[in-house]
Amino acid sequence: MNAPFPAEAIGTARLDLLPLRVEHAEEMAAVLSDPALHTFTGGTPDSPEALRSRYRRMTAGSPDPAVSWLNWVIRLREESCLTGYVQATVGPCGDGPLAEIAWVVGAPWQGRGIATEAARALVDWLGRQPVPTVVAHIHPDHRASAAVATAAGLTPTDESQDGELRWRLVTDGDVRVRPVG
Ligand SMILES: CC(C)(COP(=O)(O)OP(=O)(O)OC[C@H]1O[C@@H](n2cnc3c(N)ncnc32)[C@H](O)[C@@H]1OP(=O)(O)O)[C@@H](O)C(=O)NCCC(=O)NCCS
Repeated sequence: MNAPFPAEAIGTARLDLLPLRVEHAEEMAAVLSDPALHTFTGGTPDSPEALRSRYRRMTAGSPDPAVSWLNWVIRLREESCLTGYVQATVGPCGDGPLAEIAWVVGAPWQGRGIATEAARALVDWLGRQPVPTVVAHIHPDHRASAAVATAAGLTPTDESQDGELRWRLVTDGDVRVRPVG
């Protein structure tokens, strides 16, 4: 693949997706403090200090130079607050680079279309990078996340990994050409 590329700020109608910084840890620890956020993905909420260490490792980047760790916090512009995050791990794959994406929105901000707006913006941005394939892994019972993936143009495949279903979108430059199943 081409040299790894950095996350850039992405603006949408209501949101700013801002490249993750270690300084986001304190506010994000509160955003992500509801244990229910881990129902489908496992784990427990991080303390501010644990999140700071995690963000330090994440912003240092992948030890594998062929892999890019791209992370954004989601800022709700009107309320000047962070509400969640989106991420993409981009690495080499048979047909060119592949991005695995994920999204999380804090409990108080759920149900307002924030994950949908952020995931669409992320997928559009990836479509403008040299990344033809986008995948996400979603628990089969996770209806909200399946709706987000659908809105972002992904379709479910019949492949699963660790009990999660693989969703996929194949793009061609900035034109979405063919969801493949
Ligand atoms: C999945 C998640 C990101 C959705 O965030 P959100 O900002 O509330 O999502 P949106 O408001 O954009 O809603 C997306 C869709 O889910 C639906 N939805 C929201 N909450 C739902 C629920 N509890 N049950 C079923 N559907 C739900 C919405 O109606 C919408 O569907 P629609 O477009 O057909 O109306 C959020 O619930 C979350 O962070 N969960 C925990 C972390 C996680 O599991 N992330 C997924 C890893 S891939």
